[in-house]
Amino acid sequence: MKLLITGGAGYIGSTIANIALQNHIQVKVIDCLWFNQQIPLIHYSNPNYEFIKGDICDTSLHESLLADVDMVIHCAAVVGDPASKLFPELTQKINYDASIALFNRAVAKQKKGFIFFSTCSNYGVAQGMATEDSDLKPLSLYAETKVHTEQYIIENHQELDYIICRLSTVYGLSPRMRFDLTVNDFTLNAFRKKYLDIFLPESYRPYIHVFDLASTIIQLVLNFDKVKNNVFNLGFNGENYMKIEIADAVQKHIARVKVDILKEGGDLRDYKVDFSKLKSFLDAKNIFTVEKSVAEIVAVLDSKIITDFDNPVYYNTTPFIPA
Ligand SMILES: NC(=O)c1ccc[n+]([C@@H]2O[C@H](COP(=O)([O-])OP(=O)(O)OC[C@H]3O[C@@H](n4cnc5c(N)ncnc54)[C@H](O)[C@@H]3O)[C@@H](O)[C@H]2O)c1
Repeated sequence: MKLLITGGAGYIGSTIANIALQNHIQVKVIDCLWFNQQIPLIHYSNPNYEFIKGDICDTSLHESLLADVDMVIHCAAVVGDPASKLFPELTQKINYDASIALFNRAVAKQKKGFIFFSTCSNYGVAQGMATEDSDLKPLSLYAETKVHTEQYIIENHQELDYIICRLSTVYGLSPRMRFDLTVNDFTLNAFRKKYLDIFLPESYRPYIHVFDLASTIIQLVLNFDKVKNNVFNLGFNGENYMKIEIADAVQKHIARVKVDILKEGGDLRDYKVDFSKLKSFLDAKNIFTVEKSVAEIVAVLDSKIITDFDNPVYYNTTPFIPA
């Protein structure tokens, strides 16, 4: 088994690559290193790992990228509402145009499967628990491009089996750390500034640890014939939290944090998500919870393993560094 992981040097993709290698799955990564992040040199001497610095918008690469792989894990994207606001043209070009071109090339090359990374942000503001059949109400260009790509894949999958993964908001430590994701962001701000400001404190979102997510993706790969041609909300029942509950978890590990509630601030997303479908197909379990991960991040900050908190590498809104 050999996987092509697009965006495989990113926050999630790098963790998936690690877990794939641990499972003796061969990995080919393409990433343009948008954030000037480190190339995972740790894997270079592993004959099961190949890294290509390149841009998936360069469709002339697709043929060779797909030549010797069985399945595509498509993570590369402009990720997050703020980044898509800053880079609207690139968001359309990478998240939709390049995704469709890669999917179509994978169809032509008769690959075994295409796993597309979408988002629970597609639900926007949901009443009750959102299931895979709930209405999609994207509130940002980012989510819109994900919804449109999902639709294209579902309508054109006759000759290529797919899985669409609608991810919860991810947290935890990764080789390409992100401090712009709610749990990681709250933990860092509480640690550094003893201060959190929160807009819509009672709004809900589901969360998943990056290790639990990557492990679940590998389970989907290994059970592909059982799970293929499905949309899955990816997360765990019990991991839907209000923002104020994330702040509470942080305050259990960091003392004397002042919390201000903002009257305005922009992010209107509010959705609770049901993950029963995933559970009915796979025996997927979470090792982490938000509170456990806050402790893990605090330990890394306490021990000064990370000190360059303002380094643009940790934030998806930093300027684009061309490939
Ligand atoms: N992190 C989350 O909370 C979350 C939630 C829902 C969905 N997702 C989805 O998961 C996927 C991965 O997200 P992430 O958090 O790892 O983000 P990330 O920004 O860390 O990873 C994206 C990677 O793609 C690379 N990339 C971007 N454009 C590229 C291009 N044109 N060619 C080659 N490489 C390119 C970047 O360099 C980066 O390494 C995305 O598709 C995202 O939409 C993430």
